[in-house]
Amino acid sequence: MADATSILHISPVIPVVTIDDPQHAVSVARALADGGIRIIELTLRTESALTSLKLIANEVPDILVGAGTILTPAQADAAVSAGAQFLVSPGGTPSLLDHILTLNVPVLPGVATVGEVMAVLERGLEAMKFFPAGPAGGPAYLAAIGAPIPQVQFCPTGGISLATAPDYLKLPNISCVGGSWLTPRSAVEGNDWQQITELAREAAALAA
Ligand code: 3PG
Repeated sequence: MADATSILHISPVIPVVTIDDPQHAVSVARALADGGIRIIELTLRTESALTSLKLIANEVPDILVGAGTILTPAQADAAVSAGAQFLVSPGGTPSLLDHILTLNVPVLPGVATVGEVMAVLERGLEAMKFFPAGPAGGPAYLAAIGAPIPQVQFCPTGGISLATAPDYLKLPNISCVGGSWLTPRSAVEGNDWQQITELAREAAALAA
């Protein structure tokens, strides 16, 4: 099993993917893999997300698929049962973290303040999602956190694009960023796998 810090080194961008129709799931994952991206955060924001997760986990072995938007212990359990290889939450409550830590699955808990970073660190976790990255302070904020707490590695997500990703990736405490720009809804709904592969190729070429 990959540990959470090594997950941050798989690709310079973790695509944050939302899929409405599970029939698109495998094609989306293959299109990302064809562009050189080896990891997906599949959000649990649609009714059928767990079905899509299961399909990708079973049929696209060269992609590590995790579940995002984990808000409750029950969602964490359901995601792991569906084959999630890691879990991502937008934030973290003590009870959610308590539960996830019993599951023996890598987790990227969401944080946005120094106090939240310290609370997660107290549990022995050094890999976190920084969300919502842009509104919460962007690269300058993460650089400032890195001074007193250099051991934490972040995956910033929220409001990041191909153009702004390098501002984050150049920081010593950032090895990847997250973003939904690789899988625009119009491309997914329109079966435009070529566009997704092209967006993945550009993202995979970013210097981490
Ligand atoms: C997330 O859940 O990480 C965000 O919704 C992704 O943010 P973005 O759509 O601004 O990339």
